[in-house]
Amino acid sequence: MSLASKLVIVMRKVSMRSNEKKIKTFVRQFAQFEDQEVQFQKFKTTARLWFKDKDEEFIRTLADKLDGKKFGEKIINVIVDENTTHFNRDKTRNINKNITVPDSISERVCPLVNVPYEQQLKLKQEKAQKVMKDVETKSKTLDGSFGKSVTMFPDEKCLHLPAYSIPLLILYYFFVINVFDNNPNCQEELIYGQDFVTEKLFDLSFQISRASFFQVNTKGAETLYSEICNQCEVDENTIILDLCCGTGTIGQVISSKVKKVIGVELVYEAVEDAKKNANINEFICSKVEDAIGNILSGLDPTERVVAILDPPRAGIPSFIKHIVYASCKPELAMNNFIQLTDQTGNFKVTNVVPVDMFPHTEHYELLLTFKRE
Ligand SMILES: C[S@@+](CC[C@H](N)C(=O)[O-])C[C@H]1O[C@@H](n2cnc3c(N)ncnc32)[C@H](O)[C@@H]1O
Repeated sequence: MSLASKLVIVMRKVSMRSNEKKIKTFVRQFAQFEDQEVQFQKFKTTARLWFKDKDEEFIRTLADKLDGKKFGEKIINVIVDENTTHFNRDKTRNINKNITVPDSISERVCPLVNVPYEQQLKLKQEKAQKVMKDVETKSKTLDGSFGKSVTMFPDEKCLHLPAYSIPLLILYYFFVINVFDNNPNCQEELIYGQDFVTEKLFDLSFQISRASFFQVNTKGAETLYSEICNQCEVDENTIILDLCCGTGTIGQVISSKVKKVIGVELVYEAVEDAKKNANINEFICSKVEDAIGNILSGLDPTERVVAILDPPRAGIPSFIKHIVYASCKPELAMNNFIQLTDQTGNFKVTNVVPVDMFPHTEHYELLLTFKRE
């Protein structure tokens, strides 16, 4: 039997990827267990610290030492400083000034070290162009014009992320009896913060629980979602399929403009959040690929259905003629682009808009509209 314990730190708006070293060092010092082996698993805004072969007593002692509130207050000061957040939290900062990127990031994002913001946009634009050129090269249905005129969608709003003004920390710990068991005996305890946080987009409030996805850059998300609405070309007769809908944000933003929104999402907690956030929309907790057949058989094929995909899925039924596809890893989604545009999918790309959702990093979100006759 393998014992393991897991401390889960959820910090919204803070990049765990680029703060790994700081968080690790801080936790070890704070809890005075510098001799302990810690494994660090990081996700966008969640860090999991694993302690192997430790019993419950160790975890309880550790939790006491960490003392949620004190830990929370201190770790924020360590992590949220101008050089380590992904975003520029100084609203007055001139975006032409040089940007300093911490060492841990600079190894991965060399081109963005001390690069003015306009230059960063240009670099990301080039990345987006390369993706589109690759689609053209590999797809038989594009006409050669894509990849030439992609402009990055800059929006100063995306830069203005008030990192301090948000309820950004939830601390959990798990004690797992057997990590290799498919259904591990897992105790979960909230040691700091609330079970959920509330975020605002436009004039809408969203309740988000720990396991649910929500865009990190909320101001950027307003830009992204507005652009998705534009690309969906919605009217009061449109039915929106919000596939992989997370907490249902896109559907909620768009629902007043359309006939109906149906959201599909894998994570149970996210679907429960989505239902609370928008009780007028329909949400299904399932893998898209398992639910799509049933959903479509319940719809009239003459209806105008637009699918929003984030991330994409193969196997789009033939009566869907219009897809708006958002990807935060366009290079990895290349195969899906190709599938949609080859003879089986038969879609054409009609619009490409990169949105700078992650200023001062190498990352961006690419929106593509696919249409077919
Ligand atoms: C990048 S998030 C986007 C969420 C939402 N569209 C938004 O913008 O807030 C991707 C979501 O897809 C969900 N997901 C991933 N694979 C899925 C699948 N096969 N079926 C349904 N949902 C899936 C994830 O749980 C996650 O909530």
